[in-house]
Amino acid sequence: MVNLLKSISLVFKEKFKHKHTHIIQAPGRVNLIGEHTDYNNGFVLPCAIDFQVIVAASVRGDNIISLFSANYNQADEFDLSERIDFHETMMWANYIRGVVQRLVMLGYKLKGINIVVSGNVPQGAGLSSSAALEVAIGQTFKTLCDLDITQDQIALCGQQAENVFVGCNCGIMDQLISAKGEEGHALLIDCRTLETKSVPIPDDLSIVIVNSNKTRGLVDSEYNTRRKQCEQAAVHFGVKALRDVTLKQFTQREHELDPVIAMRARHVITENTRTKQAAKALKLGHIKKISQLMALSHISMRDDFEITVKEIDILVDIIKDKIGNQGGVRMTGGGFGGCVVVLVPSEIVNGVISAVHSQYQSQTGLNESIYVCQARNGSGPI
Ligand code: GLA
Repeated sequence: MVNLLKSISLVFKEKFKHKHTHIIQAPGRVNLIGEHTDYNNGFVLPCAIDFQVIVAASVRGDNIISLFSANYNQADEFDLSERIDFHETMMWANYIRGVVQRLVMLGYKLKGINIVVSGNVPQGAGLSSSAALEVAIGQTFKTLCDLDITQDQIALCGQQAENVFVGCNCGIMDQLISAKGEEGHALLIDCRTLETKSVPIPDDLSIVIVNSNKTRGLVDSEYNTRRKQCEQAAVHFGVKALRDVTLKQFTQREHELDPVIAMRARHVITENTRTKQAAKALKLGHIKKISQLMALSHISMRDDFEITVKEIDILVDIIKDKIGNQGGVRMTGGGFGGCVVVLVPSEIVNGVISAVHSQYQSQTGLNESIYVCQARNGSGPI
């Protein structure tokens, strides 16, 4: 982090010939449990992590947003008083353009700003680097233009940018936890009301994220397909979202559904229950229960929602073999590659790391990356 701050300051000075006035950060996230439940108005249990997008910024005297990405070594510029269009080649710029467009549409009075973005959230790993960028930008405008905007609204702007401007129909989880995370806590989020409950992560537990380094393919199209299938199931049950269907109601009418739609719905309905149970178990430090719920969540993502890939299943098996019911392991995030999350007593972290190290590469030909994380606060000025 210290290095990131140093280098972003230098880059800002070099690009804009003056010193920034503000540094803003927004974290990535890891989801402990509750996958693909957010857009079904259900429950999720993520925490913000100590990998962040950071922004150095200062107000200009005009209507220009001047951007530089330190990670991509690319610049972009647009005028707040003109139409903000999709950038055909620089995808990173679209997350920013999308958020700014949304803020303008909502009537917020924005000022021209010089911005350098940088960060260390692994990209394409399912740890929400794009949501962190969106939230960092919302937070930057809130701070520099003194906007009367809540953290929920910043998150919603990020989600809208992604849905409408970028074209991925994601839910609210990633942006909300990036905007509202709490140090040492996971948040149980009700994605219908956006109400959050802080769940302390017991001091003796560690969060380990293992990146399969399997390139995520077809993510947006498969994601949007899953979402449509869930909506189709909700229509069948005559409810607003699958959150409103109980397991009993589902079992009674399961035979009426197309088998694939039934599998998708079963995942979401059972995952909502598991997520609420996991929040309780975490609060009470019932690690065996957490272990069981995370295992069931993974099986459900693998067999019913069909969003895991071979490499991820291998990782989960290696780790599960090692930890038994002393901790939990499951894939985290949207799926089709990415990371697994492990919640274990700190004294067995090294055992997990060496088990993965000695088996993953030989079984898959890929090398893992491992991040031992802490639950951190959501976005804000540094
Ligand atoms: C992605 C989306 C989230 C959520 C997860 C799956 O991260 O951005 O909204 O749907 O996938 O739980």
